[in-house]
Amino acid sequence: MWVGPLIERKRDGGSLEPQEWRDLIAAYTGGRVPDYQMAALLMAVYLNGMSAEETAALAGAMLDSGVRLRFDHLPVRCVDKHSTGGVGDKVSLVLAPLVASCGVAVPMISGRGLGHTGGTLDKLEAIPGFRTALSPEETVRQIESIGCAMIGQSEAIAPADRKLYALRDATATVESIPLIAASIMSKKLAEGIHGLVLDVKRGSGAFLPELEDELRLARTMIDLGQAHGCPTVALLTAMDRPLGRACGVALETEEAIAALRGEGPEDLMEVTYALGVEMLLLGGVASNPADARAALADALQSGRAAEKFRSVVAAQGGNPAVVDRPEILPQAAAVSVYSAPREGYVVRVEPRTIGRAIVAMGGGRRTMEDRIDPAVGFVIAVKPGDKVERGQPVASVYAASDGGLAVGAQALSRAIELADEPPGDVLPLVSHRVTAAGVEVLS
Ligand code: URA
Repeated sequence: MWVGPLIERKRDGGSLEPQEWRDLIAAYTGGRVPDYQMAALLMAVYLNGMSAEETAALAGAMLDSGVRLRFDHLPVRCVDKHSTGGVGDKVSLVLAPLVASCGVAVPMISGRGLGHTGGTLDKLEAIPGFRTALSPEETVRQIESIGCAMIGQSEAIAPADRKLYALRDATATVESIPLIAASIMSKKLAEGIHGLVLDVKRGSGAFLPELEDELRLARTMIDLGQAHGCPTVALLTAMDRPLGRACGVALETEEAIAALRGEGPEDLMEVTYALGVEMLLLGGVASNPADARAALADALQSGRAAEKFRSVVAAQGGNPAVVDRPEILPQAAAVSVYSAPREGYVVRVEPRTIGRAIVAMGGGRRTMEDRIDPAVGFVIAVKPGDKVERGQPVASVYAASDGGLAVGAQALSRAIELADEPPGDVLPLVSHRVTAAGVEVLS
């Protein structure tokens, strides 16, 4: 395929025809277009955007690059959730087994770390033995038997997103509404689900920090969902500070397990509940938000959610003892405590600085070939609005070496901002609900 003229057209602000997108994606997925040409095209898209028709064609072509799972034979509905990406965002690890333990099947396809944000696949693979590469047949069998599977894009399922996702990560072409929308919706629609809940992140740590862009992204994905017969709801949630306390692959897995055992930090649980309520409503097992919330709380308190996670881990080859003994997760060689350099109010904990530091410490990828160190990261005990004393421990750094500890401490000194007055501009945790009918402002 001759890709040069297509790159030129996108570079010069033009559009590709739907058939051109289909041919290009099929050729790229089949290994007949090199990464460097696709990277140039992605950069042209990043700079010049895509029309709604092109976005739909790209998402459709990416969806058609692999198989579409089918679950219409099940007695329950299949629903999933996806986040546009954040720092400390381990909600998927909690939510998939939690919702599945309430009687809705969750065939979750996730991605790896992207840019400064963490990825569910990396967090799952921190569990010794855990296999995220299930075949479509294995995935269907696991959904039939335990109602939950947590897998990655593969040669068979969403293969175009698998390649494009890794390429975008390494070429600074993530922050594009059409590319994010096509990436997310192509793999979610491949799950054959009956409903989808999107967690669209807001604020400085989100890929798209402006509210207007976040709403546009939400609407673009909702339109793609509707066009493919998948009812889709989006919640806008705060990413102007990390979610929860743990940031970094294995540290987040550990915090997600704590959450499943009923010991999750408040902000993580609030976002998890908000998204879970929407999933249970779409899944048809609750008829109103109060009943849905009560069902989620009961699944956590009774231990059913943690038990479901244990079944998923065992079914996918992981060591289920991790639920009771999270210390079997990879542990950092070096740990240090970071203390507040002065007294005052925490006015900012900047997620982008934290996420980039994790990459710099080896917990994320700089190139497509990089292997990550799952043990590195941070546990940050403070949130914007907290008052701290000089010398009070506010965070811990987990690293592979003393050099890594220094990088981490330096990042914390930039990320955690202290001032005499409390902050006036902290985003509400869950601020907007977007559906095909419109936007509801929640807080
Ligand atoms: N999540 C995805 O799956 N893709 C993106 O592009 C961003 C977040």
